[in-house]
Amino acid sequence: MGYVVAVVGATGNVGQEMLNILEELNFPVDKMHAIASRKSKGVEVSFGDRTLKCEDLEQFDFSGVDIVLMSAGGKVSKEWSEKIGKAGPIVIDNSSAFRMDPDVPLIVPEVNPDAIKQAKKKNIIANPNCSTAQLVVALKPLHDAAKIKRAVVSTYQSVSGAGKEGMDELWNQTKAIYGLGDATPKVFPKQIAFNVLPFIGSFRDDGYTDEEAKMWDETHKILDPSIKLTVTCVRVPVFVGHSESVTVEFDRPISPDEARAILRDAPGVQVIDKQEADGYITPIDAAGEHAVYVSRIRKDHTVENGLSFWVVSDNLRKGAALNAVQIAQLLDEAGVITPKSGYRTLTV
Ligand SMILES: NC(=O)c1ccc[n+]([C@@H]2O[C@H](COP(=O)([O-])OP(=O)(O)OC[C@H]3O[C@@H](n4cnc5c(N)ncnc54)[C@H](OP(=O)(O)O)[C@@H]3O)[C@@H](O)[C@H]2O)c1
Repeated sequence: MGYVVAVVGATGNVGQEMLNILEELNFPVDKMHAIASRKSKGVEVSFGDRTLKCEDLEQFDFSGVDIVLMSAGGKVSKEWSEKIGKAGPIVIDNSSAFRMDPDVPLIVPEVNPDAIKQAKKKNIIANPNCSTAQLVVALKPLHDAAKIKRAVVSTYQSVSGAGKEGMDELWNQTKAIYGLGDATPKVFPKQIAFNVLPFIGSFRDDGYTDEEAKMWDETHKILDPSIKLTVTCVRVPVFVGHSESVTVEFDRPISPDEARAILRDAPGVQVIDKQEADGYITPIDAAGEHAVYVSRIRKDHTVENGLSFWVVSDNLRKGAALNAVQIAQLLDEAGVITPKSGYRTLTV
């Protein structure tokens, strides 16, 4: 017996990956509902070898659903997630709307699985920002071995982090520039094709962006509030896959070899680190994969106990859809939910 599951935002980048990953990981689904906005009612999406017709969020009755994977943007989450949670299902919310709510656990299963115990407070669990998810998967095993005092992170974030429209803008601008067409920016504030933008989200009074603040706020909530973190978020003309340059200062010496050994044993991490042309990972290599890849591990000679490294992952997968499905697995394995449609097959 399995669950009745609904994916809200099923026509979107992340929603489509959620459907793919639920199928790939054999999540026990008895009935799947694909939900989007009114304009997508009847639009067909694939779930394994089945075709689902999208239903309209406004008209959908959530009372018979066990798990809702919510991925339709912050505005839709703010309006709907609490209402849906009160109707019975557990909502795994992919937006930033509830991440810092003290009554909503923010979970990366490799890092803070025990937070699942808080799931019933509001029947909402938050999924972190894409850049935070991959960062904390890499930091956690190192932090367990040698406390992280401070980290300096620069991101290289792909356009799919800005949804379907972000991908379309890179594609259309690239074609327009080659074909002398109109390359006027519409989604990003400046031309993204053949360019990099040191700005994601909106500016705050202190000069940082809200995307940068999300990374330290969420890292503090998921991993450890004592870690000092400074971040620069940059949008790059890559379709899928976020990269991060990370420099960490520890409270004790930790060699690159020790870090490699720790990370090789860590859940969700793959170390690809050889000093040769093919010895590191790029976003193209990581796209479509589940792992958080770590490369270029080396000593930072400017501080006493420092390491620098490169972290890459598929932002639509570990940064969003995969993490959400792993949370659903955790709910099931921890016995936090039982299917309304049948009886449990798994007990922990
Ligand atoms: N992309 C990433 O790397 C990433 C990572 C972490 C978190 N997230 C978060 O995931 C969410 C979705 O991102 P995305 O990249 O999948 O965006 P997207 O490709 O633009 O897709 C947006 C989805 O939301 C649906 N939607 C929009 N307005 C709606 C409404 N009023 N009612 C019902 N459905 C509505 C759209 O349906 P229609 O087709 O009918 O408009 C579409 O299915 C966002 O909250 C984003 O911040 C994204």
